[in-house]
Amino acid sequence: MKLKRVRDAARPEIALTLDGQPMTGQAGDTLLTALLSAEGGFLNTNPFLNEPRAGFCYMGACQDCWVDVDGRGRVRACSTLAEPGMSVRRL
Ligand code: FES
Repeated sequence: MKLKRVRDAARPEIALTLDGQPMTGQAGDTLLTALLSAEGGFLNTNPFLNEPRAGFCYMGACQDCWVDVDGRGRVRACSTLAEPGMSVRRL
């Protein structure tokens, strides 16, 4: 799955890592937007079906989108802004 950007596609690109691999997002992205906009991007894997997932509420209510960010610990990907140099790990 991949989100298609329909607005603000010209925002500056930022570099971060996901599970140790380089990835890019755009300035102003939440971590969830950056993850889902990447080629082959997904948030986490369904533990029962082993299929990629994309979060649920996208507004900080369901706590379905926890990721680990170096130096910060667990954060909600849907309500945390992506910053250059962030090291993000799926949980
Ligand atoms: S997707 Fe629901 S809290 Fe982030």
